[in-house]
Amino acid sequence: MSSDIQVQRASEADIAELVTLAARTFPLACPSSTPWRDIQDHIESRLNEESFREHMDSIDIEFHLARDSNGRNLGYSMLVKSTEGAPAFSSGVPLELRRLYVIEEAHGKDVGAALLSCVERRGRELGRSWIWLGTNQANSRAIKFYEKHEFRKVGTRTFPVGGSIERDFFMAKSLELS
Ligand SMILES: CC(C)(COP(=O)(O)OP(=O)(O)OC[C@H]1O[C@@H](n2cnc3c(N)ncnc32)[C@H](O)[C@@H]1OP(=O)(O)O)[C@@H](O)C(=O)NCCC(=O)NCCS
Repeated sequence: MSSDIQVQRASEADIAELVTLAARTFPLACPSSTPWRDIQDHIESRLNEESFREHMDSIDIEFHLARDSNGRNLGYSMLVKSTEGAPAFSSGVPLELRRLYVIEEAHGKDVGAALLSCVERRGRELGRSWIWLGTNQANSRAIKFYEKHEFRKVGTRTFPVGGSIERDFFMAKSLELS
């Protein structure tokens, strides 16, 4: 499938598709212990059209969409250029990979790798030295994916999803050696 995947910067015209993708894919990153109501609350309050529109208007944020050759949406990423919240990892200016989500039917087909490769390219274009992200400690598939792509665990944090507290690993990757 990899030759069929096209990754492009998303624009305002893609917001409705991003909202649909986000609602479909956010549950895939949550541990089975997260109550369904909390997942739904997060989708309704944080992944709605207004929220995407606000992010899209920010000069600090970029979305990229992966599509197949028929134009079907397969996944999306969200980059944050502000350095707020970055873990201690290395000198130089980091880039945050805030979201990376692929629809379940396309897992294991290099869509995540195509989105990640675009993130790394943008990081280099922006003159960033390293990329960081937070991923749920129970999300072993994502952790394995990031480690395969040379990210390393560099710390931990907690954050709320609805009424639950989730635990993340911080992971980071230098852009200077690869
Ligand atoms: C993590 C994620 C982005 C990886 O994307 P991907 O496109 O599936 O990545 P890959 O194609 O490289 O596959 C990753 C691994 O998952 C395996 N895999 C996962 N689901 C699979 C499935 N349904 N069929 C086949 N393989 C699958 C692959 O075999 C591969 O293992 P390998 O590295 O040993 O070959 C994707 O699984 C995802 O969107 N998960 C849900 C959201 C999420 O957790 N995002 C991260 C939040 S920080």
